[in-house]
Amino acid sequence: VSATARIDARAFLRVKRDGGRHDPGELEAFVLAAARGEIPDYQTSAWLMAAYLNGLADAERDALTRAVIRSGQVFDWRSLGRPTADKHSTGGVGDKISLALAPLVAACGVAVPMVSGRGLGHTGGTLDKLESIPGFRTQLDAQAMRAQLERIGVVMVGQGPELAPADGLLYALRDATSTVERPWFIVPSIVSKKIAEGAQAIVYDVKCGSGAFMKTEGDAVALARQLVDVTRAMGANAAARVTDMSQPLGVAVGNALEVREACDVLHGGGPADVRALTLELAAAMLVLAGRGEAEARAALERALDSGAAWRRWLELIVAQGGDVDAVERDQLPRAPAVVPVPAPRAGVLAAVDGFALGELIVAIGGGRRAKEDRVDPRVGAMVRRRIGDRVDAGDVLLELHLAAPDPAAVERAAAAFTIADAAVAAPPLVIASVA
Ligand code: URA
Repeated sequence: VSATARIDARAFLRVKRDGGRHDPGELEAFVLAAARGEIPDYQTSAWLMAAYLNGLADAERDALTRAVIRSGQVFDWRSLGRPTADKHSTGGVGDKISLALAPLVAACGVAVPMVSGRGLGHTGGTLDKLESIPGFRTQLDAQAMRAQLERIGVVMVGQGPELAPADGLLYALRDATSTVERPWFIVPSIVSKKIAEGAQAIVYDVKCGSGAFMKTEGDAVALARQLVDVTRAMGANAAARVTDMSQPLGVAVGNALEVREACDVLHGGGPADVRALTLELAAAMLVLAGRGEAEARAALERALDSGAAWRRWLELIVAQGGDVDAVERDQLPRAPAVVPVPAPRAGVLAAVDGFALGELIVAIGGGRRAKEDRVDPRVGAMVRRRIGDRVDAGDVLLELHLAAPDPAAVERAAAAFTIADAAVAAPPLVIASVA
């Protein structure tokens, strides 16, 4: 690239810094240049912060989505001979739904070419969870993905050099620069991966509450609407559920702990909310793929009860190089220190600050504070009480799983719980549906 043909990143940055609108072509060119490594991270990060603060109009959001898609290939599975569907969450605390859902849906005859993300901000990521299984590979090339989809109907990978590489870069920079929770970033990040992976039908799980990026129902429904509309405009079918994240989902938070809980669900057990949401979203996928609702629900229950979903999970782990023995014998990495966090007083559990808990998990090593950080798969928490539960002083609210004893972490964990005197209703799991 000649010196004059190169993008003038400083001029581009000034537009957003000053609250202006980008020309869609220039925005695409900037993102594609960044993905090719031609823009240094500090300039891309500065743009992210300017756009975080000053916003992107719908046309800019759509240009960003197209640019991220164009930074790699778009897969096409129409010759597979069976429908394809996928689910993507906007991110939460303890949200391990994808782990059980992907093999479960595949066991019902709909192929799942799932492309997931890593931890983002205070939330966990499916790829980090999968990588707590020793040997599990989350990077497959297009040929390997096709072969695996043909054979077992499910792959679980990350974006990579072939698939939405621009999102790999922007995602890591957003995570490290606190520029995550804006719909004009979330929609392009998610929709680009889903369109590039080639799924024909996509169900979005838009999280809402203290542990989510969208804290209010209004913001979450608006994000769901955008995800569905932009996906349809790009050629795939879509639906969304807005679901509760006013407390962690299930019991386990943290990478290896969440894989264990997903195994429980695939064995027909697991926490009631995790099982219910897995079935809700899996049924929505099957319905978008053409099944009737009742037939879909019955097929899913059968696949769990018969062990077919569990067997598909083990096949997936083997296919992607994971240590299947470690999963079958419950020998995933374990933290050396498990410390109970007691309730300071009696009352009713009124609130759990999911953001604070998620940030605590990042701080104890379960997520990244810089792009290059390594994640400790062992650490996390087992959350033992739910909103609306009565507690006595000294009851265990949660257990922290730590790499080393850490009294400050215990204090931070206790501070995430609010205990009140009056009765508090448990929040509903599914708040709204967007078709
Ligand atoms: N999940 C993604 O893939 N991207 C986001 O921006 C948020 C959640």
